[in-house]
This record gives sequence, C-alpha cells and structure tokens, in this order.
Amino acid sequence: MSEPRTTETTDSTERTTGATGTKPLLRIEDLWKSYGNEDVLCGVDLTVDRGDVEVLVGPSGSGKSTMLRCINRLTEIDSGSIYLEDMEVTAPETDPNEVRQQIGMVFQDINLFAHLTARKNITLGLRKVRNLSEAEARQRADTELERVGLADQADSYPAQLSGGQKQRVGIARALAMDPEVMLFDEPTSALDPELSNEVLEVMHELVAEGMTMVVVTHEMRFARNGASSMSFLDGGEVIERGPPEDLFENPSHERTARFFESIRHD
Ligand SMILES: Nc1ncnc2c1ncn2[C@@H]1O[C@H](COP(=O)(O)OP(=O)(O)OP(=O)(O)O)[C@@H](O)[C@H]1O
Ligand SMILES: [Mg+2]
Repeated sequence: MSEPRTTETTDSTERTTGATGTKPLLRIEDLWKSYGNEDVLCGVDLTVDRGDVEVLVGPSGSGKSTMLRCINRLTEIDSGSIYLEDMEVTAPETDPNEVRQQIGMVFQDINLFAHLTARKNITLGLRKVRNLSEAEARQRADTELERVGLADQADSYPAQLSGGQKQRVGIARALAMDPEVMLFDEPTSALDPELSNEVLEVMHELVAEGMTMVVVTHEMRFARNGASSMSFLDGGEVIERGPPEDLFENPSHERTARFFESIRHD
C-alpha cells in the first residue's frame, strides 16, 4: 500500500479562480475611462478564461471599441486595472509593445501597408519587434498565411486582395506574434456577406484551436456558435452577461431585449 499523501499547501492565488479552478487569463477590474465630460467606460469588470471567447455587443457609442483599445494599451485608462495573467497591462511601467505582442488586435479598418506584400506586412513586425532573421520571419509569415488560407497570396499587394483577404492577412499578422489573446473589433462589418463568411470561418477555426478571444461583432451567428459568453454593454457598463442563447432568448434586462429586437430588424 502506498503512503498517504501529505497535504500540500495551496498557493492562495490559485484560489482566486473561476469555475474551472484556473485563474482567468484576462481580468478587467473597475475600468473607468472618460473623454472630456463623457464617461465612456463606467466601472467595467470582466474576466475571460483561457480558451474562452467573449463576444461584446451593444449600441453604437456604448464603449466597445474603447474597451478593446484599453485592453491593448492603445487608449490609456483613467482608473481600474487590466491583467493578462500576472502582467498588469495597465501599469505605467508595463511596456505597451510587450502588451501588443501578447494581445493581438484586428480592426474593422484593414490597416495593411499598401506598398508591402502580404508577407512583408507580416514580417515587418516580426523583424522589428521579435528580432527574427529575415528567413525566420518569412517562414513564420508563410505559416500564418497558410493558417488563414492565403498561402498563395504571400506576394500580393493589398490592392490585389479582396476585403476579406486583406482582413485575413490582418489576422495572420496578429497571429504571427503568437499572442495569448486576440481582440477583434467588428472585423467583418466593412465586408460583403460572402467575404464576411471567409473571415468568420477563420475566426471559427481559431475558436476550435482554443484561442482566447474578445470579439465585438454584430454577427449573431458567430456569437451563437462561437462564444462561450456574451456581454451586453450600454452606456459604458456591462448590463448583462451570460451564455449567448440566454441573452438572445431570455434577456433579463429590457435594454438587452430592445437591443436584440433592433438588430433583428436591421
Ligand atoms: N478618441 C476619442 N476622443 C473623444 N471621444 C471618443 C474617442 N473615442 C471614443 N470616443 C467617444 O466614446 C464613446 C464610445 O465610443 P466607442 O467607439 O468605444 O463606442 P462603440 O461601442 O465602439 O461604438 P460603435 O458600435 O459605433 O463602434 C463615443 O461617444 C465616442 O464618441
Ligand atoms: Mg466601435
């Protein structure tokens, strides 16, 4: 018979955990942001576990983009804190470039350099930020282009690509940094439905691979099939959060219900 195991002391941080027993990967605590007299984020709290996909919805001006920009240190917060595991993203001494390597972001506006090929758009950051050699960067870029289904477009310039392809290059560029979390701000809203679908397919693949994602989108099919959880923002506050089907079908708040009514009639 084996010896009874001695009781090990548990690290206290391990107990500040979510339902799965693991510490959330991303933690937003009491986040405030205003522009002039306008309070844009009013004490937002949100945690996202590793591998989870949080979809953010809410009316125009409710603070969704501002929230993503704060997570990525593109916008400085007024108060509160954001953590990526043990890194305090919002601490003044934290290097925003370090944050942006670990937290990738894809925007609605596809901001590729027009004078660079798809591959070069990706290798640029790898060379500068990651200090990879040209050959290593090129290999990494080609791997990521293949991942988003664009292996054959590495030498194309943005003007030669469709909107959906450009957006997929943007995703490949963010993925090339090997981020812990990917943020998406309405990645398909500038695209025709057909082109949206090819971008959504790539996003679904990332979900299947276990990528942790925070996604602002009006694509309710993506939310229904891809999200672990959905938050409804209004007036800079998370009014309601839960499984997507609960928010769609059984919202607790009238404002949430009204919002879903309005987008169904778009
Ligand atoms: N740089 C800025 N300077 C001043 N006001 C800003 C700035 N960025 C955002 N705002 C204001 O903050 C509020 C929230 O904007 P935000 O872009 O976060 O909303 P949103 O939920 O993403 O809206 P949409 O659905 O239209 O994209 C808006 O009233 C906006 O005008
Ligand atoms: Mg926005």
